[in-house]
Amino acid sequence: MPRQTEARPRYDRVTIALHWTTALLVVVLFALAEIWGFLPRGTPLRRNFQALHISLGILLAAVFVFRAVWRLSRGHRLPPATAGVQQLAATAAHWALYGLLLAQIVLGFLFRWAQGEPFLFFGLFSIPSPIAQDRPTAHQFGELHENIAWVIIVLAGLHAAAALLQHYVWRNGVLQRMLPAR
Ligand code: HEM
Ligand code: HEM
Repeated sequence: MPRQTEARPRYDRVTIALHWTTALLVVVLFALAEIWGFLPRGTPLRRNFQALHISLGILLAAVFVFRAVWRLSRGHRLPPATAGVQQLAATAAHWALYGLLLAQIVLGFLFRWAQGEPFLFFGLFSIPSPIAQDRPTAHQFGELHENIAWVIIVLAGLHAAAALLQHYVWRNGVLQRMLPAR
């Protein structure tokens, strides 16, 4: 196996921090929703989980916007780590993840606005709704939001499995590109 040297390309620190913050937020947001699904409706714990989901969702939206601006401006963009079909699959998965995350964030906001319930960021400020409360529409947004959540989790799982396969089996150093330098 070739030794990893500092000459290998690596994403910049901000891109790396944004990638792992996004990954963590997505997993926590999904886990919160799955856990509250087991809790009886209307209980304080379930409501707290939902409030935390919404606050972290707003945080994810801010991280996503910053990530997009950073990628389009100063963020390192590296040449593909693979070739042929693998390169195509990796690029498609990355763009699909960006697109799905954007769709999920927009739907999350629309969902809350249509629910007509408080839209608070850790109790610090509230986001006013530009649309009227509409329960049936909220229900539709909720179904889409839930389906997209599963697609994101499956795709991110495949993406992570591909990164680990390349790291442990093919040993091509792609995972190091997304890890901070020691
Ligand atoms: C919800 C979780 C995740 C999401 C949404 C996500 C999303 C992304 C996206 C959009 C990119 C493309 C970056 C760019 O070029 O602009 C990327 C790159 C990358 N991700 Fe993830 N990721 C997640 C989890 C993970 C995990 C768990 C691992 C490792 C086990 C991982 C490893 C990598 C690596 C190594 C790259 C760089 C690939 C390359 O240089 O070609 N990601 N990720
Ligand atoms: C990738 C990130 C996200 C994932 C994986 C995710 C996942 C989920 C899931 C699985 C549910 C349960 C759906 C249902 O039972 O109908 C849910 C509910 C919800 N999500 Fe998200 N979500 C994410 C991001 C967001 C964002 C950014 C917001 C907006 C701030 C948001 C707002 C909501 C709201 C308002 C609910 C309903 C809460 C309630 O019933 O009171 N989500 N989310």
